[in-house]
Amino acid sequence: MQALMQSARFGELILTNRIVMAPMTRSRSDASAVPNAQMAEYYAQRASAGMIVAEGTAPSVDGLGYCRTPAIYSIAQIAGWRQVTDAVHARGGQIVLQLMHCGRVANHHNKPVGSRTVGPSAVAAETELFTDTVGMAPTDKPEALSRVEIQQIIAEYRQAALNARLAGFDGVELHCTSGYLPMQFMSENANQRTDEYGGSPANRVRFSHQVLAAMADAIGAGRVGLRFCPSNRFNDIADSDPAATFTELLRGLRGMNLAYLHIMRAHSKRIDAFAQAREQFQGALIINDGFEPDSALAAVESGMADAVSFGRHYIANPDLVERIRDGVALAEFDRKTLYSLGAQGYTDYPAYRESLQEDYA
Ligand SMILES: Cc1cc2nc3c(=O)[nH]c(=O)nc-3n(C[C@H](O)[C@H](O)[C@H](O)COP(=O)(O)O)c2cc1C
Repeated sequence: MQALMQSARFGELILTNRIVMAPMTRSRSDASAVPNAQMAEYYAQRASAGMIVAEGTAPSVDGLGYCRTPAIYSIAQIAGWRQVTDAVHARGGQIVLQLMHCGRVANHHNKPVGSRTVGPSAVAAETELFTDTVGMAPTDKPEALSRVEIQQIIAEYRQAALNARLAGFDGVELHCTSGYLPMQFMSENANQRTDEYGGSPANRVRFSHQVLAAMADAIGAGRVGLRFCPSNRFNDIADSDPAATFTELLRGLRGMNLAYLHIMRAHSKRIDAFAQAREQFQGALIINDGFEPDSALAAVESGMADAVSFGRHYIANPDLVERIRDGVALAEFDRKTLYSLGAQGYTDYPAYRESLQEDYA
């Protein structure tokens, strides 16, 4: 597993190994979207990752969509995150924050009174969301953003990147997939605009490029990453030519000097997302989706990617790096506690050395 244990530099980010913890929403914040001590413990347990990408976090109140997900627009939220980053850094880890604006994938029961649900156009996503108050519920019909409001949202992302640095994060990652706001702009059903943000692929990726440029300007491009999954249709996304959209997205990154690109396996067999990203992006590449220790090793050894991120394996294996290094079997996670309240299925998965001690106790 030698190649996975090598350190690396991605822009201003220093990774002690090539194993990245993928962002995972776990719904453990409170109703004010404030991170807490339990989240600090969870992330600190996983600090041996070369880098942690913390869960999707709203840059603004309108960016919330799910229940109990965190945000980073208030002083309390920044302070809440500070305990998380301090705990990770105290264990020698590195952590960036994923900024996730839900856009139209939102239900008002999950958002503070007075907040809005917005999107590129006034077209609701055909999907349902879980709410703590009424159970499953349809998404809100979004208000179409004016051109001025688009600039305000870009400014909110910029401020969120600054807030993330204030909260101690080493960088930020733009969540640009899975049907949230940046991908809504790329989508032919969600985006019916006739201005410079709608129509051609170049117009539909403009919002993402402008958000990245604003965040890079605020905190330095070497601390900004981008996550994308070409041809991802999750949350009612429609794109008749996702290869063209991906090409256009990559084209706009040239010369930006981002810290890294975080690419998930394409959902269409016609796109080789990893090969295309490697060819058309000059910086560090993290790849994701369905990797096991052996396939991750092969990917890094062959030069297909600089690092591999793991999502599900990180849920029940807080010491995933040590387990991979020592060839220890990986534990299975419990689906029922993914988004539930409390420590169960969150911070109570032991490191394997702890479980060894329990076996011999
Ligand atoms: C419980 C859970 C929550 C997730 N939340 C997010 C998220 O907030 N942001 C994101 O970009 N991806 C999210 N994902 C996707 C993961 O980051 C990852 O791409 C996916 O699990 C595939 O990688 P894996 O095969 O290593 O698990 C989530 C996945 C799971 C299982």
